[in-house]
Amino acid sequence: MEKLVITGKTPLKGEVVISGAKNAAVAIIPATLLINGTCTIENLPNISDVRLYCDILTEIGAKITWNSEHEITIDTRNIDCNNIPIETTRKFRASYYLLGSLLGRCKSAKVGIPGGCNLGARPIDQHIKSFEALGANVDVSGGNIVAKAKKLKGTSIYMDVVSVGATINAMLAAVLAEGQTIIDNAAKEPHIVDVANFLNTMGADIRGAGTDIIKINGVKELKGGATYSVVPDQIEAGTFMLAAIASKGDITIRNCITKHLESIIAKVVEIGGNVYENGDYCRVWYTRRTHKATIKTLPYPGFPTDLQPQMGVVLAISEGTSVINESIWDSRFQYTAELNKMGAKITAQGKSAVFEGVHELSAAPVYASDLRAGAALIMAGIAAKGKTEVYNLHHIDRGYENIEEKFRKLGAKIERVIEE
Ligand code: UD1
Repeated sequence: MEKLVITGKTPLKGEVVISGAKNAAVAIIPATLLINGTCTIENLPNISDVRLYCDILTEIGAKITWNSEHEITIDTRNIDCNNIPIETTRKFRASYYLLGSLLGRCKSAKVGIPGGCNLGARPIDQHIKSFEALGANVDVSGGNIVAKAKKLKGTSIYMDVVSVGATINAMLAAVLAEGQTIIDNAAKEPHIVDVANFLNTMGADIRGAGTDIIKINGVKELKGGATYSVVPDQIEAGTFMLAAIASKGDITIRNCITKHLESIIAKVVEIGGNVYENGDYCRVWYTRRTHKATIKTLPYPGFPTDLQPQMGVVLAISEGTSVINESIWDSRFQYTAELNKMGAKITAQGKSAVFEGVHELSAAPVYASDLRAGAALIMAGIAAKGKTEVYNLHHIDRGYENIEEKFRKLGAKIERVIEE
């Protein structure tokens, strides 16, 4: 079993370069299935979810060439839509994008009901509703989702909840549909804009991504032939920003889009941290003990749920009593029990948690329950007194490229160790 061993109380110092966004990459890779040609994708994060998705596309018949550690060329001319590795699709949440892509390209798709982070109930009714509105029949049975259509026809889709995945899936299915599709109450996350930009670069006609109304004029074919660079990961950037504050450090974050970080920057400044932002980089530094805050997670541009556990670490050691209200996922406070093992005073109940700030955390063996919880525990280990051991690294490796290397370059004392 692998674990990270972290000797804490090291203020992070120096520069970190942010990778391409995980959540954009895991949508853009399946989106290439809509192309009858080749395309090149740059700035891909080298993480296990990306490698797994590339394996799935290879099984479907795409030819993938790794040009470098962060760049692939994909040829999707000769895919076989019936050759989806169902068992592999169960392993991660973003496999649901195969439904929209293959429905669009082949008018038929079958995937296993997706797994992924254990954050509570993760319904996909809005995805299904969107496919059905476009003219598909969708059957969920035997642990699989099967979508089929004779043809897909543009329509109006109103999302009952703001959903990143359903918005992207509706976009994917509508790109090659006949006529215009309008998605109302769409999610506005940066990776939605990124997927739309990617598809438009390959020949699609999508307008309004990044607002709550997206209009897609169906085109006959996506020919590809272009190169696209994945947007920087705002969640990774936010993780380092909060780690700088938790560790009492001073770091510069390169290759980020500070516009995407506004809700996080606002909270860091509100609690007493310092941020200098300049478009594609920012400096974050600690000068005095941070203080309490009230946080409610919301769809973009609100405070992201994917930074809630990392913010929880900062509030656990900030002065005063803070409250976090998690409005997206039912079960996102599992990390608080681990922080309490490290001396935090957090009471979590349902979708709220109360953080009674303590002066410092102390080392303990802790277990990541999911991807972002794992990042939060690493941050806690760097801030804490003593030697913290973080287990369940497979969650963290799904979404952070070389996380220990990046923290080590900032001065953290962190080693990956194989335990017998
Ligand atoms: C994506 C992100 C995930 C992030 C989440 C919220 C990816 C691969 N994952 O997940 O990291 O935490 O956005 O920012 O991009 N819902 C429904 N019905 C649906 C779909 C969603 O009720 O059909 C609800 C969910 O239960 C949740 C909310 O809508 O309460 C938001 O979920 P959604 O935006 O769809 O999350 P994901 O796309 O799965």
